Amino acid sequence: VGPPSARGSLQGRRVTISAGGTREALDPVRFLGNRSSGKQGMALAEAALAQGALVTLVLAHAEVPPPAGCEVVRVESALQLRDAVLEALPATDVLVMAAAVADFRPAEVAAAKMKKTDDGTDPVITLVRNPDVLREAVLARDADARRQVIVGFAAETGDAAADPLAHARTKLARKGCDVLVLNVVGSDRVFGQDSTEVTLLDADGSESDPVRGSKRVVADAVLAHAARLLSR
Ligand code: CTP
Ligand code: CA
Repeated sequence: VGPPSARGSLQGRRVTISAGGTREALDPVRFLGNRSSGKQGMALAEAALAQGALVTLVLAHAEVPPPAGCEVVRVESALQLRDAVLEALPATDVLVMAAAVADFRPAEVAAAKMKKTDDGTDPVITLVRNPDVLREAVLARDADARRQVIVGFAAETGDAAADPLAHARTKLARKGCDVLVLNVVGSDRVFGQDSTEVTLLDADGSESDPVRGSKRVVADAVLAHAARLLSR
């Protein structure tokens, strides 16, 4: 770690990281969730701490504990995650949205535990869209003259319509963030793996060489890139 003025360092910078997977309540004991392990977010928090940053971790459900030394804001649902991220945003220099935010939540949360009935009718769960937290952060940031760097993550597969890179470029444009970390997923690449490969896409159209290695290697690359953008 270099002196505070060192180019590329996050010394004294405020870094907010969302991590883990949100859980969307169905009733007091059930939820809709996802398989996010939270490991990438924890690696980002560790890497930011190692660079001397002041780290706020907005933490949804994760399989691994948060590192010591960061401020942890526990959340469960996407709505709670949004509130926590937007609250931290004004004081944030770098926001990294590593959380797996549920796209939908049950339209209604039953006040009491849902029960089976004998009349043969099974429940139908209606879903509604959750807010796009990353997009909202970008819009909130635009009202603020101070320089902030906002980073999103996207796991993409190719399909008939486009390859992963094209999907990611479209997503980056739609979100309006500065950087999108593209993780190409396929049948041999599974959520929760300890090793990964990503490409960093910039809003200006440039892209990094592939970054391969542990989630910590990816975290270091993402934060180094964010620090460069911050000091630009
Ligand atoms: N994200 C978010 N709020 C949501 C959904 C996603 O802030 N409601 C963030 C994620 O944390 C991630 C980025 O947006 O950093 C991309 O997530 P992704 O699920 O790939 O994007 P979506 O816009 O939900 O697109 P898709 O329909 O492909 O799931
Ligand atoms: Ca999504």
